[in-house]
Amino acid sequence: VDSLLVDRYQRRFQYLRLSLTELCNFRCQYCLPDGYQANRTHQFLTLNEIYHIINAFSDLGVQKIRLTGGEPTLRRDFTDIIRLVAAHSTIKDIAVTTNGSRLYDRIEEWQRAGLTALNVSIDSFLPHMFAMITGEDKLNQVIRGIDKALSIGMRKVKINTVLMKGLNDDLNHYLPWLKTRNIDLRFIELMETGEGAPHFQRYHLSGSVIEHKLIESGWQLMTKDSLAGPAKVYQHDEYQGRIGLIMPYSQDFCQSCNRLRVSSTGRLHYCLFGDSAIDLRDLLHDESQKNILKNRILDSLHIKPATHFLHQHHAGITQNLSFIGG
Ligand code: GTP
Ligand code: 5AD
Ligand code: SF4
Repeated sequence: VDSLLVDRYQRRFQYLRLSLTELCNFRCQYCLPDGYQANRTHQFLTLNEIYHIINAFSDLGVQKIRLTGGEPTLRRDFTDIIRLVAAHSTIKDIAVTTNGSRLYDRIEEWQRAGLTALNVSIDSFLPHMFAMITGEDKLNQVIRGIDKALSIGMRKVKINTVLMKGLNDDLNHYLPWLKTRNIDLRFIELMETGEGAPHFQRYHLSGSVIEHKLIESGWQLMTKDSLAGPAKVYQHDEYQGRIGLIMPYSQDFCQSCNRLRVSSTGRLHYCLFGDSAIDLRDLLHDESQKNILKNRILDSLHIKPATHFLHQHHAGITQNLSFIGG
């Protein structure tokens, strides 16, 4: 199926990011420094509701599902969710974005259930810095998990590093890692979130600083295919791994947006930032609602904005990314 999801800027959406929970067992400074607020008593989507979401979006031409959060792997039915998605023959990629804390113990089970791609957050390769940023001294555990994933044949493995000035911006800490591992390491520009303004002021660094250093030392920009997302990816003859840059503060970032997002409470968000969202939850009870659900999704595509509101400080800053699913 070709994607029926096309917006008024001719962007195509074959990629859905589905947040499974807001809960997390890490306390990343830029995301959930004080932990999850237990007084927010949200009911997260059930397995049955997830089934109806996947069903509708796969009918509409979505071919890639990313399970995200919060920490999606904290859900007890996480493997069942992978299996449920994998049962749709139209879905070619099932990816997870995780902090890696459960990777070592569970990756084989997830792979057997149908997981095809893995993105793991590692904000520093120095154990003490990793612990400082995430609140958990688990760097080695996470790395063991990644190496296990590679050893059992996971082919699409990426590492996400949120770039922070003075904390983790030294390329030399990453390069040795990419010599012999066929993975993508992506630097993500720190984004300003509601409670994170002071942190943002202090640590935000433009990805172009890293980009210039890469170019100076012989890294070359790879060409993208037409369905690729906003990351700019560099490669080098002497390295098996690649380095990507996710730079939402750069001018043309949103033109290549290829994804839609559903939050852990069933709201369809058109952008990581901004408030435009519509509730799908009343249409997730049974199969008979599928056509209405698909129409609601289609009809509302026109509200997807051309770009995010990160440049306007007063507008559209989300509370933290664990909510919509970074
Ligand atoms: P692939 O599917 O592997 O290409 O990666 P992805 O970038 O879609 O997924 P991932 O969850 O690894 O994304 C990494 C991080 O980049 C996210 O958690 C966000 O912080 C940021 N990011 C991804 N997509 C967007 C986007 O559309 N807008 C903005 N502002 N940031 C994004
Ligand atoms: N800025 C940039 N990236 C963020 N993430 C969470 N919060 C932010 C932020 N404020 C990213 C994490 C991880 C994913 C789940 O979201 O690094 O890659
Ligand atoms: Fe948890 Fe991910 Fe947020 Fe860190 S960035 S607190 S690992 S949801």
